[in-house]
Parts: sequence; C-alpha cells; structure tokens
Amino acid sequence: MSGQGRKVLVLHGPNLNLTGFREPELYGKKPLSEIDADIEQTAGELGYEVRILQSNHEGVLIDTIQEHRKWAEAIIINPGALTHYSFALRDALVSVRLPIIEVHLSNVSAREEFRHLSVIAPICVGTIAGFGSRSYLLALHALKDTEVGAL
Ligand code: DQA
Repeated sequence: MSGQGRKVLVLHGPNLNLTGFREPELYGKKPLSEIDADIEQTAGELGYEVRILQSNHEGVLIDTIQEHRKWAEAIIINPGALTHYSFALRDALVSVRLPIIEVHLSNVSAREEFRHLSVIAPICVGTIAGFGSRSYLLALHALKDTEVGAL
C-alpha cells in the first residue's frame, strides 16, 4: 500500500471491548482504549488515516464494512469468535473488494481446536496472531511494506 492507500479501517469484534480485563494471560493487560491509541500513533507515523470501531454485534460490523467500502483502502480486523464461524462477516469482507488483514491477540493455533479454523483467513492477504496488541501494529507495517498490486 506504499505511497497510495492511506485509509485503513480497523475493526474489533465481540468481547474485545473487555481486553485488559478479560483473560489477561491470553489477551494482555492493556485496555482496548490504549491499544487503539497505539494503533492511532503507529498509523500516524506510517502516514495512514485510520477509523477504528469495536462492536459486539455481527450486523454492526457488517454495516460498518459496507459503509466504508468507498472510504477504506484496506481493512484490519480482529473478528473475535466470529472468526471461527461467521460466513456473513466473510461475505461482507469479500463484497467490498479491499485487502484484508486478520489479526488476533492470542495464538489461536495453539489454543482449543475450535479456534484453529478461521472462515475469514482464506479471503485475507494474511493473518497475524499471537503478538498481543502488537499484532495490530504489525498489520499496519505489513500494509506499508506490501505493494497494492501484490494484495
Ligand atoms: C481472539 C481469538 C478468538 O478465538 C477469541 O474468540 C477472541 C479473541 C484473539 O484476538 O486472540 O475473542 O480473536
């Protein structure tokens, strides 16, 4: 996205509003407000404009994706548990024809078996998981380092 795309939509799915409080040994102690501040800072350093939204509701995430189809040039999404079963979210992400990066705080592959399947991953450029809140920042850097044509 270097030199061209500048507008990135960052989405957090269900229960991520409780990050910092919820299972901190898995998801870290940093509250989502601080994670969002880090995202804003890194995005600024990289020259990106970001819009960030968290929702516990699949439909709100889908509406937001649709509403941003003309504004956004890439989407970074942590779909939470929707990762593992939401075909509706997947369809919405496909519909907007934008490069998508899936992120997770925890290493989902090292956890319960039901977390090993992502129905979102196959439609993404790539997945970054297991680096805590840094997963989001790594995703921003990944966008910077990847040419649009390669996405
Ligand atoms: C998560 C992993 C999901 O399996 C889980 O349902 C979450 C958080 C993560 O960031 O590690 O809510 O997406």
